[in-house]
Amino acid sequence: MQKSGSSARRLFVMGTDTGVGKTVISLLLMQFFYRRGHDPFYVKLIQTGCASAYDTESDARFIYDHVPALKGKDPGDSVVYCLKNPKAPYFAARDEGVVIDPHILKESFEQRIGRRSPVILEGAGGLLVPVTADVLMISLVELLAADPVLVARAGLGTINHTLLSIEALRTRGMEPAGVVLVDSGKTPTPHEMIRENMEAVASVAKVRVAGVVGRIRDFLNPDDGCYGPLSELLDQN
Ligand SMILES: Nc1ncnc2c1ncn2[C@@H]1O[C@H](COP(=O)(O)OP(=O)(O)OP(=O)(O)O)[C@@H](O)[C@H]1O
Ligand SMILES: [Mg+2]
Repeated sequence: MQKSGSSARRLFVMGTDTGVGKTVISLLLMQFFYRRGHDPFYVKLIQTGCASAYDTESDARFIYDHVPALKGKDPGDSVVYCLKNPKAPYFAARDEGVVIDPHILKESFEQRIGRRSPVILEGAGGLLVPVTADVLMISLVELLAADPVLVARAGLGTINHTLLSIEALRTRGMEPAGVVLVDSGKTPTPHEMIRENMEAVASVAKVRVAGVVGRIRDFLNPDDGCYGPLSELLDQN
């Protein structure tokens, strides 16, 4: 794992589930690093549910559309595998007669990033989704020598999903850099519940719970408060 401060590192943005806010946290990380004068690079390792990296559903396109410094640059540079069906990568690949090869993925990833740093990697779905018949998303964290950052929902049910995800990382000898909660719903989760969820995760798992990112109205200009959990996460790691 890389542990060399906030500028020279690879962060693997993992989710407790699909749709928890990994892309939004990746976007905030990109904006955060640009604001600090770095030149971050985003990689979506395996995009499913898209015909190309330019689809409206493409996570890379979302990132490129909301980072002014990436205007005019090619989201295709950031996507290693792109698969049409909205399924776990192994099955989406199998539908197209493709076998994802983790070593090709690593090679292609290293080629794309070159000497760029920091790198924000986004997987697909949760930690234990299959990438091949016998490789799970979580194994790519180690393969790509990245630090996992765990993104979780802020509301009811998150304690269980978050603790299970941390256990899955630790079982494989990996330590999350921290947990970021996302409260994206139209009705905000009550503060007391968020506090209790953070308390439970921090005290049971002895992990840094960096904070909660609330609902963002303008992805091009998120409120300054959205970056608080990221400095909490990165400045002390
Ligand atoms: N803080 C937020 N404020 C407003 N909307 C949000 C926020 N976080 C996430 N969303 C919305 O919730 C949906 C899911 O978020 P996102 O795409 O980041 O999840 P994901 O974990 O990357 O999903 P996937 O597994 O498909 O990659 C998106 O429509 C996104 O715009
Ligand atoms: Mg995403």
